[in-house]
Amino acid sequence: MAQFEKSRWADNGFSRNYRDEAEIYLPQRRHFIDLALSFYGHFIAGNRAARILDLGCGDGLLIQQLLQSFAPEEVTLVDGSDAMLAAAKARLGERGDIRFIRASFQDLLNQDPLPGNFDFIYSSLAIHHLASTEKKDLYAYIYRHLAPGGSFVHYDVVLPCSDTLEKWYLSLWRQWITEQPDLGKREKLLLIPEQYKGNPDNVPDSLEAQLQMLKQIGFDNVDCYGKNGIFALFGGSR
Ligand SMILES: C[S@@+](CC[C@H](N)C(=O)[O-])C[C@H]1O[C@@H](n2cnc3c(N)ncnc32)[C@H](O)[C@@H]1O
Repeated sequence: MAQFEKSRWADNGFSRNYRDEAEIYLPQRRHFIDLALSFYGHFIAGNRAARILDLGCGDGLLIQQLLQSFAPEEVTLVDGSDAMLAAAKARLGERGDIRFIRASFQDLLNQDPLPGNFDFIYSSLAIHHLASTEKKDLYAYIYRHLAPGGSFVHYDVVLPCSDTLEKWYLSLWRQWITEQPDLGKREKLLLIPEQYKGNPDNVPDSLEAQLQMLKQIGFDNVDCYGKNGIFALFGGSR
């Protein structure tokens, strides 16, 4: 994979556009976040001392939503982008129980700057930038950093198992964008599915391959918890 610094996410304009527009162009984003929070409520929230990690946190939307309903002991947000971390700090505020770490996934694998283990590790729409072997290395890293009984929940794009299905899924995505009320941005946003396909930074693996990786590493309860076209929420527990 290209180093984080060479990817589009290192460009502050690119990351600002994502923060401004993701809500409009990501199909059922709120539904996927609600599912992740339901998972957290069902499996983790009983542990009042829960430690949470968000990998590729962006501007911290998931953590903000989680803190509205739950009171974990501490939260760690990791991202390769200073601009994203600044946006996450602005959203969440500076608090003693929240830690922000600027690190790429490569830094995690090479230097392991994260102290201790976590009860809930979440990642959304970031790991698909890693090549297959790097995904597996990162999943193994995540497994090593999960406390017993902890879980990993991953919301990301996945590679459809055929071109035929991919064409349909991309048309479903365009349909979602067409139905959004912001007419001013529609024309530009309708290009996003094609841009996603044409961007060499995006190297998703199939859902099946990734579930298999998690199982091989030793995760339990491995499953796809929700899916819409190329977007899926999946994971496992330790
Ligand atoms: C599409 S955004 C998703 C942000 C957030 N998780 C969300 O769902 O809104 C992808 C995020 O992953 C981060 N990212 C991409 N590649 C990364 C890498 N190799 N290491 C660390 N962060 C990375 C980007 O900076 C960006 O914040």
